[in-house]
Amino acid sequence: MKLTQAQAEKVEALLREMTLDEKIGQMNLESPSIVGGFDVSFEELIEMVNDGRIPQEEFVKIMSTAKRDFHEDDIRAGRVGAMMGDDPVKANELQKIAVEESRLGIPLMMGFDVIHGFRTVYPIAIAEAGSFEPDLFRRTARMAARESRAHGVNWNFAPMVDVARDARWGRVSEGPGEDPYLASCFARAKIDGLQGDTSSKESYVAACLKHYVAYGACESGRDYNTTTMANSLLYNAYLPPFKAAVEEGAATVMASFNDLNGVPCTLNRFTLREILKECWSFPGFVVSDANAIRECVVHGIAEDEPTAGVMAAQAGMDMDMGTEIYLNNLKQAIEDGRLDVAYLDEAVRRILSVKMWLGLFDNPYVPEEQIATNEVIPQTNLDLALEAGEKSIVLLKNDDNLLPLSKSQKISLVGTLAAKPEEVIGAWAMSWKPSDCVTILDGLKNQGAALEYFPCGGPDAPMNDEEIAAAAAYGDVIVAVVGENVTMTGEASSKADISMPGAQREMLQKLLDTGKPVIALLMNGRPMALEWEAEHLSTLVECWHLGIQMGNAVAKVLFGEAVPQGKLASTFPKMTGQCPIYYNHPNTGRPGSKSKFTSRYLDAGFSELFPFGYGLSYTTFQYDDLAVEDKGDHLAVSVKVTNTGKRSGVETVQLYMQDVVGSIVRPVKELKGFTKVSLEAGASAQVSFTLNKSDMGFYNNDGKYLLEDGTFRIYVGGNSRDCLMQELRLVF
Ligand code: BGC
Repeated sequence: MKLTQAQAEKVEALLREMTLDEKIGQMNLESPSIVGGFDVSFEELIEMVNDGRIPQEEFVKIMSTAKRDFHEDDIRAGRVGAMMGDDPVKANELQKIAVEESRLGIPLMMGFDVIHGFRTVYPIAIAEAGSFEPDLFRRTARMAARESRAHGVNWNFAPMVDVARDARWGRVSEGPGEDPYLASCFARAKIDGLQGDTSSKESYVAACLKHYVAYGACESGRDYNTTTMANSLLYNAYLPPFKAAVEEGAATVMASFNDLNGVPCTLNRFTLREILKECWSFPGFVVSDANAIRECVVHGIAEDEPTAGVMAAQAGMDMDMGTEIYLNNLKQAIEDGRLDVAYLDEAVRRILSVKMWLGLFDNPYVPEEQIATNEVIPQTNLDLALEAGEKSIVLLKNDDNLLPLSKSQKISLVGTLAAKPEEVIGAWAMSWKPSDCVTILDGLKNQGAALEYFPCGGPDAPMNDEEIAAAAAYGDVIVAVVGENVTMTGEASSKADISMPGAQREMLQKLLDTGKPVIALLMNGRPMALEWEAEHLSTLVECWHLGIQMGNAVAKVLFGEAVPQGKLASTFPKMTGQCPIYYNHPNTGRPGSKSKFTSRYLDAGFSELFPFGYGLSYTTFQYDDLAVEDKGDHLAVSVKVTNTGKRSGVETVQLYMQDVVGSIVRPVKELKGFTKVSLEAGASAQVSFTLNKSDMGFYNNDGKYLLEDGTFRIYVGGNSRDCLMQELRLVF
């Protein structure tokens, strides 16, 4: 995010002209408020939907007739710097007021949650990360950027790059999984995708990195919960994706809800000012999460709302999302001498710089002709959503080689999840249309499958014995779609039990009892505890929530027209009680093993069900001849990978290292590189990696990066567990 000299000067000139009120206005983010017409307050209405007092459909009906206040008068008066919304016509109307009717004509940022696509919804992040393909991450983000901009959204509240190691947390679905290296690659590619194409005025948006920071480490996976960690862990695991994205030029950052070591991230001077703004020289602006400044009072860190506002502004929080605490209190605080105006100048300079870089001063509107064509999804977008879907599917088990299916087989498709358009979408997608969604039922039909559909049961639907009997009578094979409803993941959707919900396990048992072969397709937004399923079913496919092309992607993989190539971006536990579980945990003095006095559970042992990086193909790969050479400033690592099966396939070759002895305990393995190879049956390839020695260090508890001489292990394999290994001593 770089400004030309002329742009930077324009920012300064504006700043000089602004009144205190206008400055504070720029620091205020509003969303349309719902007004009037209800017997209860809007907040109460939301509660009523959430606790089931009124059904969702009723709520939608009420909302469609509700009046909204778009804060036109506030915008006119220069009291709003940014708005939320996804309606291009409304965006133009509001932008016109800001540009033509406010005193200084400063355009609005228009923000919206475009986490995994706008109208073209592609796979949820945890799924897409498993493609291990940065170029794909970049291309899907670019598609989302263009679509957003065409809808008046010039600021995407994405990417979410929270490293998350506890699958109980509902928001694992929104991010790239448990590993800092993969998450950093994801973060960089997403920033490039969202912001990098400046070839036209409408092709890019400002990204908003979130949630800064360590939100994914909320205690026991319970959303909004406290976070406590050593600085070394913060620097080594949770900060890297943010740092990578800032280096890539991320324009904005959203602070997280959680407190970190006792200080809410909304007003955390250490993370916002010292690390982000000073150490990393982040030039953009920071926005709070929704309502978060007010919540600092509830946290018990600020006496009252005015104090929370002052503390946040001083800590480096540039924009207030949704509380109007800045709007209503900062002027008084400055007049009373509780806040220095320099904090406001800094914040406003950052906000105006982002607006300037976005080109909003010259190009604030969505062109009319684009609004007119918004309704049709271009084929190129559909193709990309399909490609992303196919590449995100992870084959977990295929013991009896039931897959791929042949089109002559009669399929009994089972499970309510298989036929509901809203279930392919995943958490945090809001601008999709049901008519765009291809369910698994639709996808199989599109492929010309010989098929009958029997709902039989689902996460919240009771089991139906008659339908199970009918499914058994019809098909040569049963394809059972099981897992979680979309609403079971995402924000405020933490779970204390992540095993198969409802009566689905029983349903699977009954299907198995029929004696027909059963293939289980999983639709879910988090790693689930699937010990029972892995023990009883020969065939398991992780299909996640893949977006609007889900059904087509799944059908192509089932029929072998696309070969499964996804890998897990998160470890799958056997049982919920193993959470948090992740491959790159610190070494213990008693590493888990079969013997009793080691780091293990009596009832779950010491290992995961499926490790990070795991995923099968319709063929098999063999790894040989690992060679590691010390080349001075880097290691040259190579390995021979052979396709030992009968079909072509794609393998993600993964490079890990272990720093065996360190001045603080180091992880048992750390991902340091990956590359995808496509191999015909019987073919081999020599795969090479360059591992820079400068990347082999770690941060200590003072946030200092250290490279320590000693023994290192280099691992290469097709997942984080099954690797070849070579040990060497290094001097830096
Ligand atoms: C979420 C953010 C989101 C924001 C605005 C919050 O509740 O935590 O991820 O960007 O709402 O919609």
